[in-house]
Amino acid sequence: MNLTNQKPFIAGNWKMNKTVHEAIELVTKICNSSSDLASETNMVVIPPFTALNPVHEILSVGKVQLGAQDVFWEEKGAFTGEISPLMLKDAGCNYVVIGHSERRQYFNETNETVNRKIKTALVTDIFPILCIGETLEERKKEETISKIDTQLTEGLNGLGKEEIRNIIFAYEPIWAIGTGLTAAPSQAEEVHKFVRAKLAEKYGNDTASCAIILYGGSVKPSNTFSLLKEENVNGALVGGASLDAESFIEITKEAIKAYKEKK
Ligand code: 13P
Repeated sequence: MNLTNQKPFIAGNWKMNKTVHEAIELVTKICNSSSDLASETNMVVIPPFTALNPVHEILSVGKVQLGAQDVFWEEKGAFTGEISPLMLKDAGCNYVVIGHSERRQYFNETNETVNRKIKTALVTDIFPILCIGETLEERKKEETISKIDTQLTEGLNGLGKEEIRNIIFAYEPIWAIGTGLTAAPSQAEEVHKFVRAKLAEKYGNDTASCAIILYGGSVKPSNTFSLLKEENVNGALVGGASLDAESFIEITKEAIKAYKEKK
């Protein structure tokens, strides 16, 4: 399967929410309302580990795909509490979020561990969704671009063009996550443009032009259109608003509308 940014990519990161019963209820609603959207978008749900299998059973008849919120860098062994990419594949995952700012902040995730996880996910044929983003303090000190630059350089260390083509990028400014503060479309575009330019410089224009670069941070139905209308914004990684089927579907519809207008 090849990644393409010809359609908007909308992923819902459920974080540490939803029991199995609640997850089944939510994904059933999403599937029931999204059958006519599937051809115009890529939709992914990212439930907690415990709900991956039951959610996959429901998704298997439709077009919505499955992702996980994290992965370990070894395939198996004595790593109590960790989940391997083989287990994610077995549970039906095509995607995995790597380096989410909450994992960097609370669980000591570093660019080095992010890099190891990306490499293992790729070997297992799971598309990594690499999260990058700056704190409010870094933005105020005008260090946004240098932070992103370092996260990309170290996170992608040792990877070649072919591997880069299988990675999705998610710019999530930390100050916009769960705060209700969204980056202005121009702020998002500035960083997305930088990410694409950096990919072009290191891996060539072909690789950069088809890269999927998502925005995340307080995405909701009312701001999706303006964000996705920006040239380099290819979709959204949605947190809170993906916990409700109606708003997740509404975000997807707004994304499709914005993409049509961009063409
Ligand atoms: P919110 O949409 O709740 O701000 O979360 C964004 C996020 O962290 C998605 O990974």
